[in-house]
Amino acid sequence: KPDQILLSPNLSTCHESMGKPGFPVYCCPPKRESEEPFIEFQFPNASSPLRVRRPAHLVDDEYIAKYKKALSIMKSLPFDDPRSFMRQADMHCIYCTGAYNQQHSNSLLNIHRSWLFFPWHRMMIYFHERILGNLIGDDTFALPFWNWDSPPGMVMPNMYMKLPFLDENRQNSHLPPHLADINFDYVESGLGPEEQIATNLAFMYNQMVSGAKKSELFMGCPYKAGENGSCNGPGTIELAPHNSLHTWVGSPLNIYRENMGVFYAAARDPIFYAHHSNIDRLWEVWRGLRGYKPEIIDPLWLDSYFFFHDENKQLVRVRIRDVLDIAKLGYSYEHVDHLWLNARP
Ligand code: C2O
Repeated sequence: KPDQILLSPNLSTCHESMGKPGFPVYCCPPKRESEEPFIEFQFPNASSPLRVRRPAHLVDDEYIAKYKKALSIMKSLPFDDPRSFMRQADMHCIYCTGAYNQQHSNSLLNIHRSWLFFPWHRMMIYFHERILGNLIGDDTFALPFWNWDSPPGMVMPNMYMKLPFLDENRQNSHLPPHLADINFDYVESGLGPEEQIATNLAFMYNQMVSGAKKSELFMGCPYKAGENGSCNGPGTIELAPHNSLHTWVGSPLNIYRENMGVFYAAARDPIFYAHHSNIDRLWEVWRGLRGYKPEIIDPLWLDSYFFFHDENKQLVRVRIRDVLDIAKLGYSYEHVDHLWLNARP
């Protein structure tokens, strides 16, 4: 048999999946009469304006008003519109609970806990951002990032405390001004603010520098064809602060800490997109720290592809190799200082 890119999902196989063991969920798109046609990904026009993502705790009222308008429209779209907020959130559910089979195989596809983590989430928020911008006719619109690796960003950003950015399903005792323990593991750290900040910064140093010297440690394990679920070797940042902040935000009053605390529901909380914007930024920062050496050259990774709907409701096939250069994708991150770089424990 010739080599196949076995990870690519077969879109027609979307089926019920497991939100948690013993807890089935259904997040598939509405059934269609025929296979949905798709186009190949194309980079945005080089002449289109750069979208600059800024820290969520620093954006101004004018920006918040724009985003509010875009998100309100997105939330009001009907479920059969793939740009609608619920469909966007369900994309995450589909790809992280095993709702798709791999191409040519019965194995389920899962984009967490492996080298698919960073590129898949980059694609997801890329299309999400473009849809939001398109809904308000603003091609400069950029998502904010939750800058939790910097002391003033270590609380939930205030803009997420009001609709449409608010989600009722969050842990009340973690709302502002409560400082995040970015390595939260279900137990309160009990640290005072100064100690918590110092602990967070030292932890960031470990996850970005000392613990992430080899590609695989940062990017996660190679996820090869035929493996069910995933290879189960998350990268440093994926494990924490990524997973830990999901848990920290989600409500302990819900069985699975919905919304943020469980994969199937996480993207229903608007703060998800700012959380992932920061994760995406840190991938870029890590690449910079190592001189932009290619992180992985295995074609199995580079050629793996996924499907997303764009701002024109068009299904697009996008390969990992297409999303490795954010300049080509037309966005950037506003520079912020990295105190954690000097926080070697
Ligand atoms: Cu796909 Cu933050 O999880």
